[in-house]
Amino acid sequence: MRILVLGGDGYLGWPTAMHLSARGHTVAVADNYLRRRLCREEDVDALYAVPDLNERIATWQATSGYTIRPFIGDLKDWDFISEVFTEFTPDAIVHYAEQPAAPYSMLNRKAATLTLENNLMVIANTIFAVREFCPAAHIVKLGTMGEYGTPDIDIEEGWLDIEHNGRRQKFLFPRQAGSLYHTTKIMDTDLLWFYVRVWDLRVTDLMQGPVYGIFTDETGSDEKLLPFFNYDELFGTVLNRFVVQAVAGIPLTVYGKGGQTRGYLNIKDTLNYVRLALENPAQQGELRIFNQFTETFTVNELAAKVQNAGTALGLEVRVQHLENPRVEAEEHYYNPQHTGLLDLGLQPNFLTADVLRSMLGFVTEHREKIVTDRIFRKTTWK
Ligand SMILES: NC(=O)c1ccc[n+]([C@@H]2O[C@H](COP(=O)([O-])OP(=O)(O)OC[C@H]3O[C@@H](n4cnc5c(N)ncnc54)[C@H](O)[C@@H]3O)[C@@H](O)[C@H]2O)c1
Repeated sequence: MRILVLGGDGYLGWPTAMHLSARGHTVAVADNYLRRRLCREEDVDALYAVPDLNERIATWQATSGYTIRPFIGDLKDWDFISEVFTEFTPDAIVHYAEQPAAPYSMLNRKAATLTLENNLMVIANTIFAVREFCPAAHIVKLGTMGEYGTPDIDIEEGWLDIEHNGRRQKFLFPRQAGSLYHTTKIMDTDLLWFYVRVWDLRVTDLMQGPVYGIFTDETGSDEKLLPFFNYDELFGTVLNRFVVQAVAGIPLTVYGKGGQTRGYLNIKDTLNYVRLALENPAQQGELRIFNQFTETFTVNELAAKVQNAGTALGLEVRVQHLENPRVEAEEHYYNPQHTGLLDLGLQPNFLTADVLRSMLGFVTEHREKIVTDRIFRKTTWK
């Protein structure tokens, strides 16, 4: 397949591009380095420097023999995205290109409007480009489990059968997000569902949980091929952040009671899930939704796992409960279904002591680069 990865410089986009090209697909990536720019502006650079796309692609070609085509530009810009689609003519599009950080979206008005404009314009342009240049192409869109929030009922896989006054219909599962970023992802899903109905697009929307990890089968031993590893409050996801805190000898920052439960997955499984969705496409005129995670944990359970793994390595790991800067339930019911992708054949990678040991070991090698005041700056939701 000819696969276009939008956001191909990102934490997930770059490993995905390597993974798909290693499996014989013809891959192009498009990115405007927004993630790098926002991290620079907020002084929250990743743990180690990551080369730009040209250098990463050259390194990948030298080590694997496979090549990836780069397009550098802003996908909000119609001229740019139409050039990408006409030059590359994809069979499938993996859409990662959004501002992906909930805390960043809650930082201030400027960050909020950037998140809204960016995420909504990129999804709209992607839909318009598919309609105009490749209407049979399959869009695989990264959504988030955060679209559902934490309802007091079981979370189904995308849809809910509702019976009302004796009549039944299937609707999108009710969504109520906990941040502006997550709300833009709900709007993405609504736009996709609208254009699936009116234009017969073929779409898979993956409701993904927080991802952890650094290494994939393709990163190998060359550090130039590793993804970003952010450990700050804005862009660092919780497990990556805890691992850095454990190595730096500062307490793991659990917000509030720590009973917040989410579905997590290893970065290797993101790649496998996305590949399985591509290789088993949605039908024309279908919006297919999968819940994409492997295990659920409370924040307290994650902290305990990191503490145990760190202690076994001789680190002194403490856990500190802070006043919660977010507006969220700290103890709640959480029972999301997630059989769709497993039925396609995924063999999950679980959060084992070995996985944590390898992350802690790697971060320890980069310990001197940790800037501790990046980790918690009290960005509040209020
Ligand atoms: N990382 C996670 O834990 C996680 C969890 C659930 C969902 N997701 C979703 O997965 C996707 C990828 O997440 P990530 O962690 O890799 O984020 P990321 O910020 O590392 O990657 C997104 C990439 O898209 C690029 N981009 C953004 N706007 C663009 C634009 N207008 N034009 C061109 N490029 C643009 C950024 O520069 C960045 O390289 C996001 O849509 C995110 O919402 C991520």
